[in-house]
Amino acid sequence: MSVWAVLAAAGRGERLRVVDSVDEQSSTTRPGADRPKAFAQLGGRPLLAESLERLEASAWIDSIAVVAPPGWEEPVILLAEELGCGKVVASVAGGDSRAASVRIGVGEVADDAAVILVHDAARPLVSERVLERLIGALNEGWDGAVPGLALSDTVKRVRDEAVVETLPRGELRAVQTPQAFVAAVLRAAVSGGDEATDCSSLVEARGGRVTVVEGDPRLLKVTTADDLALVESWLGSEP
Ligand code: C5P
Repeated sequence: MSVWAVLAAAGRGERLRVVDSVDEQSSTTRPGADRPKAFAQLGGRPLLAESLERLEASAWIDSIAVVAPPGWEEPVILLAEELGCGKVVASVAGGDSRAASVRIGVGEVADDAAVILVHDAARPLVSERVLERLIGALNEGWDGAVPGLALSDTVKRVRDEAVVETLPRGELRAVQTPQAFVAAVLRAAVSGGDEATDCSSLVEARGGRVTVVEGDPRLLKVTTADDLALVESWLGSEP
């Protein structure tokens, strides 16, 4: 059974731009902040390096296709070479949205792949434990599996500033990546060209059976400079 990872790294990361505290007077941006998010600095190297290295080291992953920011396909290949990531077989330019980028990445996956796992480079701390839970769920017969966390806040639906509904918290999960799917199921789901903030919703919309496995708080998605600092503080201290 061959398992492919599609690493979505084509986001621009505009919310990551910050003023370096040392250079506040000159408004110089933090090193790496003028680059796409995947090349922002995390622990002294590009953010992308962390997830690339982890997917490379995983016993569950056979091949990796990286969806790069347009114009950054070559630097991605150079980074993969530098890190010794021999599983990286493709680096392609992404699209205007995450869904478009994933569609392009899935197009690079070999026809004989049994499982495709889609991961956001913006979530650097992907762990072997989460990968094991996802693949385990597919082996039990699910079409897809996603990591999720229970919520501690109560969630309400709001329209024109008025609360219209309070959702039952016990049924809600905050869903992360990587998300794993039977390859044929994901290919069919992305082929429609629909927009979505995650792959699972495209699979669900076609009647696919997706389960939620236990996620990981350290799979935090880096959006702001504060997120980057938090993830950086967790580097090397994982169980
Ligand atoms: O934009 P957001 O932070 O939600 O992006 C989630 C992931 O999707 C990131 O890893 C980002 O690089 C990726 N992405 C992409 N192509 C886009 C937009 C986002 O690959 N056009």
